[in-house]
Amino acid sequence: MKILVTGGAGYIGSHTVLSLLENSYQVVVYDNLSNSSIESIARVQALTNKEVDFIEGDIKDKAKLRQIFSEHKIDAVIHFAALKAVGESMHKPLSYYQSNIHGTICLLEVMEEYNVNEFIFSSSATVYGEENNVPYVETMSLGTPASPYGASKVMIERVLQDQAFANNSFRGVSLRYFNPIGAHESGEIGEDPKGIPNNLLPYVAQVAVGKREKLSIFGGDYPTADGSCERDYLHVVDLAKGHVAAVKWLEKNQSFKGIEAFNLGTGVAVSVFSIVKAFELASAVNIPFEIAARRAGDLPAFWANADKASEKLQWQAEKTLEEMMIDTFRWQSKYPNGYAHD
Ligand code: NAD
Ligand code: WQD
Repeated sequence: MKILVTGGAGYIGSHTVLSLLENSYQVVVYDNLSNSSIESIARVQALTNKEVDFIEGDIKDKAKLRQIFSEHKIDAVIHFAALKAVGESMHKPLSYYQSNIHGTICLLEVMEEYNVNEFIFSSSATVYGEENNVPYVETMSLGTPASPYGASKVMIERVLQDQAFANNSFRGVSLRYFNPIGAHESGEIGEDPKGIPNNLLPYVAQVAVGKREKLSIFGGDYPTADGSCERDYLHVVDLAKGHVAAVKWLEKNQSFKGIEAFNLGTGVAVSVFSIVKAFELASAVNIPFEIAARRAGDLPAFWANADKASEKLQWQAEKTLEEMMIDTFRWQSKYPNGYAHD
């Protein structure tokens, strides 16, 4: 079975490509490298001793997409390619809607032209918005996320539902990721943010290796057990395996029609203070921090009800918080400048 992975050079994509290769799938990666390096694909090939077809290009480029679908017999598409910085999306909404929504529609149009009908989409816990109570369950209505980034995920989930309704052959899965962290246990691939990291773990890891002076904890007065925000952090390798489980579920359930949503999380909420402590324990490095103002748009606490993925996909997050910290630190220590080597 041959799978086209858009955004496959990125953080979650590269770990998923590795997992797909380990499960004997053939992989074609399509990525414009706007937020990644081709080095991630080279490392995945070295780790698995398997080949990946890599094509550089943008999902908005339908001519290039057509070329791929005519040269390769693609059976399914896993669609990671997107812009993903929540804060940036508030300032550049048009870029986000252009890349994420228009880009996805271009991809779906070309898939339809070539009669490729299996789709796995990178959605996000952000689709539950502020309206829903925690833990989030897939039966809840989608919310109204505050950011254009989050809104783009809600809109694409809707587009997929409508497309599956209109085209009876088209079917797929929306995977709603909670907070992926960690890196492959080899330390060869991991998260490589450009500039100042927006997300917690990359920031903590950069403090640990001396690239940043101290962590700012955004808010210490939330209505949570220790006053800091709580999230459902899951290991990126577990998340990658969730994609393989989704591909297998589609293969097994040929009679399934439509789009099914699954939360991919651990079902456990962990506070920012607990993350800092766990990282210090795992790395034996002290992480200086200060309590700073709350960050706009942050919710106090959210986590997954992960039962549906466990029941239907037979997928559960397996790695511990300690492993998430050890693997993050290993990657950051081995490659303090990510894929840039300098
Ligand atoms: P990432 O930025 O590392 O990966 C995205 C990849 O897509 C990059 O390699 C980038 O170069 C590529 N890309 C971006 N725009 C493209 C375009 N127009 N055409 C072709 N390639 C393009 O991000 P990630 O963390 O690996 O996220 C992957 C997906 O998962 C995204 O859709 C993101 O929204 C979603 N997601 C991520 C998180 C998270 O916390 N990381 C959580 C929920 C959902
Ligand atoms: C985690 C916690 C911060 C940085 C984001 C997106 C979400 C999803 C995953 C894509 C929060 C705190 C952070 C720092 C801090 N992405 N923090 N100091 O915001 O839960 O989720 O990534 O779909 O849509 O919103 O993740 O890692 O940014 O923050 O105190 O320097 O760490 O306030 O409580 P978040 P995060």
